[in-house]
Amino acid sequence: MDKFYITTPIYYPSGKFHIGTAYTTVLADTIKKYKKLRGYDTYLLTGTDEHGQKIQTVAQERGMEPQQYVDEMADLAKDLWKKMNIEYDDFIRTTEERHTKIVQEIFEKFIKNGDIYKGTYEGMYCIPCETYFTKTQLVDGKCPDCGREVKLMKEEAYFFNMKKYADKLLEAYENIDFITPEFRKTEMINNFIKPGLEDLCVTRTSFDWGIKVKSDPKHVIYVWLDALTNYLTALGYMSDDDTLFKKYWPADVQIVGKDIARFHLIYWPIFLMALGLPLPKKILVHNWIMMKDGKMSKSKGNVVYPELLIDRYGLDATRYFLLREIPVVQDGVFSPEGFVERFNYDLCNDLGNLLNRTVSMVNKYFNGIVPKYNGHKNDVDEELENTTKEQIKKIENYIEKFEFANALSETWNLISRTNKYIDETTPWILDKNNETEKLQSCMYHLIENLRTIGIILIPFMQDTANNILRQIGINDINLKTWESMEKYDSIPENTKVIQKGEPLFMRLDVEKEVEYIKEGMKH
Ligand code: ME8
Ligand code: MG
Repeated sequence: MDKFYITTPIYYPSGKFHIGTAYTTVLADTIKKYKKLRGYDTYLLTGTDEHGQKIQTVAQERGMEPQQYVDEMADLAKDLWKKMNIEYDDFIRTTEERHTKIVQEIFEKFIKNGDIYKGTYEGMYCIPCETYFTKTQLVDGKCPDCGREVKLMKEEAYFFNMKKYADKLLEAYENIDFITPEFRKTEMINNFIKPGLEDLCVTRTSFDWGIKVKSDPKHVIYVWLDALTNYLTALGYMSDDDTLFKKYWPADVQIVGKDIARFHLIYWPIFLMALGLPLPKKILVHNWIMMKDGKMSKSKGNVVYPELLIDRYGLDATRYFLLREIPVVQDGVFSPEGFVERFNYDLCNDLGNLLNRTVSMVNKYFNGIVPKYNGHKNDVDEELENTTKEQIKKIENYIEKFEFANALSETWNLISRTNKYIDETTPWILDKNNETEKLQSCMYHLIENLRTIGIILIPFMQDTANNILRQIGINDINLKTWESMEKYDSIPENTKVIQKGEPLFMRLDVEKEVEYIKEGMKH
């Protein structure tokens, strides 16, 4: 069985997890569920990045010990992922011993190999971003990433010799196609590598909430060196039991937001090279969810927490919106209007009605028993079969490229096509005219297409997918596999649809719900 190792960033537990973190995690989970459906031995890693000054400060503000604070936050993350049906295989916390111990050893190894040396650091430091900047990198004297005030700091510190690896990194960019989308690679080359890679300061002495350098414990290891190695330590790299590491490394896809592209496209591959390890096969850099008035921020009062949507509209509607509306390689916009519209049009009208109409017609015309496949009896039957096959291929290609918005858009084209098929075949007239064979064929095709749609939706909206399959009487596990979509005549005799179809989604009152979401965003 081929393996497939997927990672998300490990999130800072510096506040409640918002829809942005949920987005990345849903992307990762969708890939995991898809690959699982395709027969891979999948492994999905997520976790929390618990060290650093920011975390220490937040804990202090709440009158808590940092450890106590991050313990609570890690539980919140786990609760959220459970609520979102995220099938992670491991949740790594950077305060765990399995991580801290190995990070210390990796650091010593870097010293021993001459990759890390001791020097003095002076620079402008952005506390929220945990990053030093040179004067030229600042924008109007402020942090180029978050726009906040930076502070001049000077300290004895250890440095990682990035320069040494600049050429090797460029070579890797050339030879291994590990960055998606391509333009991120160009960005890295033009913005960071061509102007000359600076050595990276990899220790701090200004605070102590972090992993201490084993051979020089007044230094704390820079949070990004600490954090990036999670992808290895979680697999038991350099530990007594590295079975998982041997099995799953290199990662098949590592998913990160554009805000942390630099860390994952420059420092991370260099750390791996220094450890003599293969690079990940893919790093997928996704864009952001924006609000109509720009970036989400607490001060603007436009932050969306996933619970707001999930508790009222359900998990699947929330996942659907994120995956459908936010294209992976372009910024997408969250708006309450957009959310409610997608819910009503796509989920209630298109998908919900197709299922409902079909189930009630099979009940009405054939007592709920799905007729046997009897070839193409209507003019449009064959055309529908062909379109369906083409759509499956298109969707599959998009998913393989992680273009989920396009995959869903094509899935909805298939749904619309199937709805249109009802209008074209006019089963009510076939019934009136006693054209039984044609009516049988029509019902069969509708059920077969709903089965296909159900299977395609498994990675995106698992409960809805299972609900569809259950309502059309598909229980056999062999009829729920991706491969089973290839066959168009596979629904067994005596398959019985549910007697009274239950609506998948209940239509929303637009005005009321837009107001509800807007109000919820203020808190
Ligand atoms: O950066 N839209 O953690 P973090 C989409 N601990 N995705 C968003 C988003 C938005 N508006 N806002 C955040 C860190 N994200 C480090 C990572 S990894 C070794 C260490 C997502 O809590 C996106 O994936 O700030 C982004 O990269 C991540 O949250 C940043 O999470
Ligand atoms: Mg961040």
